[in-house]
Amino acid sequence: MKSGVKRLLGRAGFDIVRSTNNLGGVDDFIPFEATVRAARAAGVSVGDYIDEVMNGTPGATQSTIDELRALGVFAANPNTVLEIGPGSGRYLEKTLKECSPDRYEIYETAAPWADYLVDTFSVVAQPTAGCSLAPTPGGSIDLVQAHKVFNTVTFLCASRYFFEMARVTRPGGRIVFDVMTETCLDPATVSAWATQGGAGHGSYPAAMPRRTCVDLFATLGCSLEASFLAPMGVASTEVLVFGKGA
Ligand SMILES: C[S@@+](CC[C@H](N)C(=O)[O-])C[C@H]1O[C@@H](n2cnc3c(N)ncnc32)[C@H](O)[C@@H]1O
Repeated sequence: MKSGVKRLLGRAGFDIVRSTNNLGGVDDFIPFEATVRAARAAGVSVGDYIDEVMNGTPGATQSTIDELRALGVFAANPNTVLEIGPGSGRYLEKTLKECSPDRYEIYETAAPWADYLVDTFSVVAQPTAGCSLAPTPGGSIDLVQAHKVFNTVTFLCASRYFFEMARVTRPGGRIVFDVMTETCLDPATVSAWATQGGAGHGSYPAAMPRRTCVDLFATLGCSLEASFLAPMGVASTEVLVFGKGA
């Protein structure tokens, strides 16, 4: 694979360590052992290794966390956090530097990474089947988040998770996730994706209309509080921050 393509794919969080088929499908997330070993050898956390070395975008994860802090997402010190698709835990690790929840639940299909996160950060891995948060009671979570997940799954999977995210969030809680909206898809960017975005394996990168999200969450009692862009692949995704009405 050409190094430029590797770099672009790496920015989306996909394997550039050893896989030969790492174009963004949900079943081939970055390899566990090789990545952890490489991060240890480099003397940095796995999350920072992915940002700095694999993706060549030092500080990318931290910049999203910084934006969320500035928006007050961590101000109330959320006591229960739920993350969908944490993968290597690069957002999880930095979230735990911003707040100290009693309980941090994860829903992750990549078993080696889920086990690693349980061992490393004492989070609770919930059974992950399809696109449901069924094991989590309604109204029980202060902060629900997902990063770089909904651009790798199908429309139906993302939509099903949206209903579930609204259900499990407690009144007054926050919902944070990024999607590749029309804000991220001007003609020049579509051209860049078409020419430099790799082989288009699986559903990556999947788009999701911004208005669909805003209108849907409004019907579920959640209003859009803020949004900002975060880098992904050849371009960006849009991070949406919702608050659930008290
Ligand atoms: C592109 S990775 C992003 C990982 C991490 N959030 C990050 O930004 O580094 C997508 C993650 O979603 C996970 N995933 C895919 N389908 C899922 C599903 N249906 N439910 C939960 N996690 C899923 C993958 O295993 C992977 O960890």
